[in-house]
Amino acid sequence: MERRHIITIASEKGGVGKTTLAINLAIYLKALREEIPVTIFSFDNHFSVDRLFRIGNQAPTGDVSQLFWPQPPQDLGGMGEFGINFIPSLGALDPVALGIKGVERLAQGIEKTGLTGFVLIDTRPVLDIFTQNALFSADQVIIPVKDLPAMENAADIYAFFDLYRLPRKRLRILPSLIDMRIRFPGPFRNTFELLRAYAIKCGYRCFEGYISKSPKVESLNTNPQGRIYPVLIHGRNTEVHNQYAALARQVIQRAFPEPTEQNQQVKTPGSAPSQVISGSRPD
Ligand SMILES: Nc1ncnc2c1ncn2[C@@H]1O[C@H](COP(=O)(O)OP(=O)(O)O)[C@@H](O)[C@H]1O
Ligand SMILES: [Mg+2]
Repeated sequence: MERRHIITIASEKGGVGKTTLAINLAIYLKALREEIPVTIFSFDNHFSVDRLFRIGNQAPTGDVSQLFWPQPPQDLGGMGEFGINFIPSLGALDPVALGIKGVERLAQGIEKTGLTGFVLIDTRPVLDIFTQNALFSADQVIIPVKDLPAMENAADIYAFFDLYRLPRKRLRILPSLIDMRIRFPGPFRNTFELLRAYAIKCGYRCFEGYISKSPKVESLNTNPQGRIYPVLIHGRNTEVHNQYAALARQVIQRAFPEPTEQNQQVKTPGSAPSQVISGSRPD
């Protein structure tokens, strides 16, 4: 696998599920296509990615700021849990921002690291220089949207793409944290239908389906152990499990469009091959 495919998860709205999605998508991509390397890093400064993927007390190797160096190290990051490579986060990113001149620096840095396979970038809820670089470098962008204000914010990402003449087809809206118990009278019966209709009206493409708001997923992120538990392993009886699997298949199909049997099955990382489970189809 020599190809590289960069997936940026971006939204100016906080709390729409970006980081949770980035972490879990990395694991689903690995489970679906174990031969493809998966690398994840985050410009968020709360170290969720590090907490989940760091193995034991393994010393961090470098950090995300080094991606902006003129010659980033070739061995940036390290193999983490679930066979996923992660580049450590950095708490104090603001001083680094001052030194970043231009939106193409991250793309150049990633190119020089020689990373291959899927590269997932989690961003902060602001269109700062890091998010701009992450958007510019992306082969596809996932924009999680949970309400109309978040949808209105998506306009800034589209405007950024237009400004730099990047193809809008790289962008996809993902209705997120949908609570199907909320019902509306009239043509749009729930938040998902409403958001989808609004996106289409704005000319935005959407992923098939949505991500439900799930108390189980919330408890996997926030619990007395202070740990993050992946949905694939600890939430397999949830709707969100099937939704993440379906999303991962769409992401793979967009990245490497050849049809493959493997796209139809999800394996639990680290489990015996016999423990293969079926997920839902994307459509
Ligand atoms: N599918 C989901 N169902 C319920 N809660 C979720 C889901 N995804 C994320 N959350 C919760 O929502 C909050 C925000 O998620 P997070 O991934 O940190 O969003 P962001 O990175 O966009 O700020 C967290 O408390 C997280 O546990
Ligand atoms: Mg976040």
